[in-house]
Amino acid sequence: MPDEMVDAHIRGVSNALAAGWRVLDRGGSALDAVEEAVVIMEDDETFDAGRGSFLNRDGRVQLDALIMDGATLRAGGVGCVEHLRNPVRAARKILSESPHVYFVAEGAEKFAAEHGIPLCKNEDLVIPREVERLREYQASLAASKQDGNDLFAPSNDMTISHDTVGAVALDHNGDIAAATSTGGTLNKAPGRLGDSSLIGCGCYADNESAAVSTTGWGEPIMKLVLAKWTADRIAAGNLPEWSAQEAMNYLKQRVR
Ligand code: GLY
Repeated sequence: MPDEMVDAHIRGVSNALAAGWRVLDRGGSALDAVEEAVVIMEDDETFDAGRGSFLNRDGRVQLDALIMDGATLRAGGVGCVEHLRNPVRAARKILSESPHVYFVAEGAEKFAAEHGIPLCKNEDLVIPREVERLREYQASLAASKQDGNDLFAPSNDMTISHDTVGAVALDHNGDIAAATSTGGTLNKAPGRLGDSSLIGCGCYADNESAAVSTTGWGEPIMKLVLAKWTADRIAAGNLPEWSAQEAMNYLKQRVR
């Protein structure tokens, strides 16, 4: 993370923590707490979620989110939505009010609108910082291809600038929940879905194991179903701190 963005990230995460804590402190559920925490970060342009997300190859914001209830294993997910300021709100509606678990694209937006969530324009989610970042990235990519290097690897300062958001919570009933929300990766192909909104990949919660949210490059995380892998380590009796570290080691060793 670039030095000049550290304070904004700490502020954003602290605001999210406070929002989640307010819910828990008045006796609210873990599910409500993670939703409120993630909404704060989706609304904060610092992060790769909601407004301010990375842009896809076509210069559009395309968002994914998942929320999961550890008590019931109910979950709600949305993928590739382009007209929702807070995809986690739509995911929560799916969890609470639909027999289904997952909606994508126009179907997800239609479901959201039918359940009282206002749609926005895609331009409302796009900010100048990200337009410039995409422009620079695509220019580097074109230059690199001209040099005959088709396997162009983006430099760190272009991609490691902000990332997916997530929250986990434990409430006074002993129930746990997790939520994850993302704009995905810079210059992704339209329709590309990452780990964040897939159960067990970017998000998982089960009262009998753990609540997990992952952030980082989605493709390797998906291959390892990493959130569920980590929860299983905890169910086997390992400490959360150890299991999180082991998940990082597994990711590094297995898929580099
Ligand atoms: N972890 C976010 C993504 O790769 O889409």
